[in-house]
Amino acid sequence: MSTQMATTGDNIPTSAPRAAVTAAHDQSQPGAALDTKTVGQVTVANAVVSARKVNVYYGEKHAIHDVSLDIGRNAVIALIGPSGCGKSTFLRCINRMNDTIDAARFTGHITLDGQDIYDKRQDVVQLRARVGMVFQKPNPFPKSIYENIAYGPRIHGLVANRTDLDEVVQTSLQKAGLWDEVKDRLEHSGTSLSGGQQQRLCIARAIAVDPEVILMDEPCSALDPIATARIEDLIDELRQNYTIVIVTHNMQQAARVSQRTAYFHLGDLIEVGATDQIFTNPMHKLTEDYITGRFG
Ligand SMILES: Nc1ncnc2c1ncn2[C@@H]1O[C@H](COP(=O)(O)OP(=O)(O)OP(=O)(O)O)[C@@H](O)[C@H]1O
Ligand SMILES: [Mg+2]
Repeated sequence: MSTQMATTGDNIPTSAPRAAVTAAHDQSQPGAALDTKTVGQVTVANAVVSARKVNVYYGEKHAIHDVSLDIGRNAVIALIGPSGCGKSTFLRCINRMNDTIDAARFTGHITLDGQDIYDKRQDVVQLRARVGMVFQKPNPFPKSIYENIAYGPRIHGLVANRTDLDEVVQTSLQKAGLWDEVKDRLEHSGTSLSGGQQQRLCIARAIAVDPEVILMDEPCSALDPIATARIEDLIDELRQNYTIVIVTHNMQQAARVSQRTAYFHLGDLIEVGATDQIFTNPMHKLTEDYITGRFG
């Protein structure tokens, strides 16, 4: 939890809302107005993803309000907040999964390595390989363990032959901490594994197409404490090579695995900062109420 995230004005696109980027008024003071302008450090020096003025509507429902947030490379950011505050919606903006929801409408800008992912020339299949996703409920394909991993590299043309594919399957399973448990039964169905193993299989599947960012929406909420601990250890290892955005309802988990935390409330990004600061010294009253259990 020690990664230093410096604010920087230098890499902010010209469309960036200056006020949201520099806002830092202390909302913990008695009498401070509870406005919903983001407090804390929205920008980081080494951003891989930059979201600016993001709004999402589901029909008439305005689910995300003007959210600006940088996601730093090779680090873990936790998105926390009460049910319905927009965590999953914001997460799905980062790989355009909201495109699959008919009622969803997006405004704003999100860049990945400086490129606008909402540009009409963006190949969405390619984007979702670069920004992989792991869901709450493990969802292996009803195919063999081997095929679960091999499918992505094959359709993305990442391997030239069977030997290369075997190697990608092995290294992906190794990185996901599952190889030793499955190496003798790669032809068994992915669905025959335990829940925790299935979730590591899904992580291996995301890794296999060499993503930059992995989005995880409550990846441990269907797992027991031992399987959860394994996934948390894995997240800590994976951040050496990947950028991870994790939604969690478990505040101990956010504190254990993330270096930065963003607190959402009713569609607003209320506060973002270093995880230890958010949990020990939140600036905004709403953040404090949530982390102390008074709200949500
Ligand atoms: N497909 C959808 N159609 C219409 N409204 C939706 C849809 N998905 C989400 N919403 C609404 O958008 C708001 C944000 O939902 P979202 O699922 O992003 O919240 P969340 O923070 O992930 O909640 P939870 O912690 O319960 O998963 C909620 O009011 C929700 O009802
Ligand atoms: Mg959700």
